[in-house]
Amino acid sequence: MAALKLGVLGSGKGSNFRAIADAITRGSLDAEVGIVISDVPDAGILSLARERGIRAEFVPPGKFKSKLEPSAEQRVVELLNEAGAEWVVLAGWMRMIKAPLLDAFPRRIINIHPSLLPAFPGLEAWKLALAAGATTTGCTVHYVDAGMDTGEVIAQAETPVQPDDTPESLHARIQAEEHKLYPAVLASLARIHTSRR
Ligand code: GRF
Repeated sequence: MAALKLGVLGSGKGSNFRAIADAITRGSLDAEVGIVISDVPDAGILSLARERGIRAEFVPPGKFKSKLEPSAEQRVVELLNEAGAEWVVLAGWMRMIKAPLLDAFPRRIINIHPSLLPAFPGLEAWKLALAAGATTTGCTVHYVDAGMDTGEVIAQAETPVQPDDTPESLHARIQAEEHKLYPAVLASLARIHTSRR
């Protein structure tokens, strides 16, 4: 059976994409990344994709800060369809997802967030956890809906907060968990999805 075809969206350095691509190379994730799309022209995630011979596309986001302009989001849908993407994986994507993409991939868009949702949605969640005095935080893989980090939770991994943690040290330990959790969740989804084809 053919591997699950993924489209990846990211705005940043792409360490989660790298963890996913490495899991595919190792054979622990039966998937293929058909395309990586970014709203940031020089995002690290695009370079990482090109190094691996994966199609990498910049889509100009338009005039809004927190979402893509509808025509840009439609372009993203076209690119994902062209690449044959079955699931959309947000890996450090910094914009809200709206109707064009949600409607094109119903319950087929997932995200990873650096907290134990529903605690600490939004930006720089590790800083929020630290400021709130949380003793445990972590990361969450969830379905994406029209809200901010509100979609149904698929899986979580915990990270203890150490008394001497800085935002940087805590974020680094959460990211190490993300790099294990995201490929593992995708491997389960790939098994379920390809068995239903
Ligand atoms: C991760 O911390 C993820 O939880 C959040 O954005 C960050 C992306 O990092 N959604 P990277 O680009 O995968 O390194």
